[in-house]
Amino acid sequence: MMDWGDGTYERTAEQLVGATEGAMERAAPRPGERVLDLGCGTGNAALAAARRGAAVTAIDPSARLLAVAEGRARAEGLSLRTAVGAAEALPFDGGAFDLVLSVFAVIFTDAPERAAAEIVRVLAPGGRAVITAWHPTGPISAAGMLLRQALMELSGGPPRPPPPWGDPAQVAALFAPHGSRVTSTDASLRFEAPSAEAWFAEQQAHHPVWRFAERALSSRQGAWASLRERSIAALEAGNEAPGAFRVTSGYAIYEVRVGERPARA
Ligand SMILES: C[S@@+](CC[C@H](N)C(=O)[O-])C[C@H]1O[C@@H](n2cnc3c(N)ncnc32)[C@H](O)[C@@H]1O
Repeated sequence: MMDWGDGTYERTAEQLVGATEGAMERAAPRPGERVLDLGCGTGNAALAAARRGAAVTAIDPSARLLAVAEGRARAEGLSLRTAVGAAEALPFDGGAFDLVLSVFAVIFTDAPERAAAEIVRVLAPGGRAVITAWHPTGPISAAGMLLRQALMELSGGPPRPPPPWGDPAQVAALFAPHGSRVTSTDASLRFEAPSAEAWFAEQQAHHPVWRFAERALSSRQGAWASLRERSIAALEAGNEAPGAFRVTSGYAIYEVRVGERPARA
């Protein structure tokens, strides 16, 4: 079972702050608005919204990461309500929020339709969600796809289609049954390291997903070594800074608008 509290996700979260800022510009939370940071991790988006005066709730499956978010909020004197939970079954009343933020988080659900329904359910009429999702292009995405494929092969089950979040048409289709409209803009983040090997070693040591993959693949002779080698080759192929390592990862910022619900007769 994948545990996002394993390793040191904090290190990756620091590199994603730029994306939080982009999402925040799009979401523009107002003072007093009820905001849910869905899959808050160490709280980047939750804290950014709280600094703008919003009334923020942060939810994540990882109790350890929530504790980090709480500590950061305390250190800044910000108020933050937290809950352990996941996108597929949000422990909140319908219409409890004006804005749902999910920065590279709901994209990890195994049940995208259920997660989309839950996001719409907890939003008040006229509410909005802002969701960031990586484009399925670029070297880091290529390495992620190799990892996903290796785990799928290990499980022995039938191949599963890639998650829908990288495709605006599929994301629109997720929310359309709920009467919600989706628009998207594109953005990108740059990642740097001394070399592709060093970037990979950082993930291997600290990132929960790569740590999970190494443990899982250790049951099959050579599987981790093969994934490592092919991932580094994919990273090298997209390296923008020969002699060092620099890559650009594109992502979509989706804005989901929940319609006004018709008044009951
Ligand atoms: C890449 S991290 C992003 C964290 C944070 N939003 C940020 O910007 O740093 C992914 C987060 O999604 C959370 N997550 C994974 N599966 C989830 C699910 N089904 N529902 C909600 N959150 C989930 C993880 O616990 C983790 O904190």
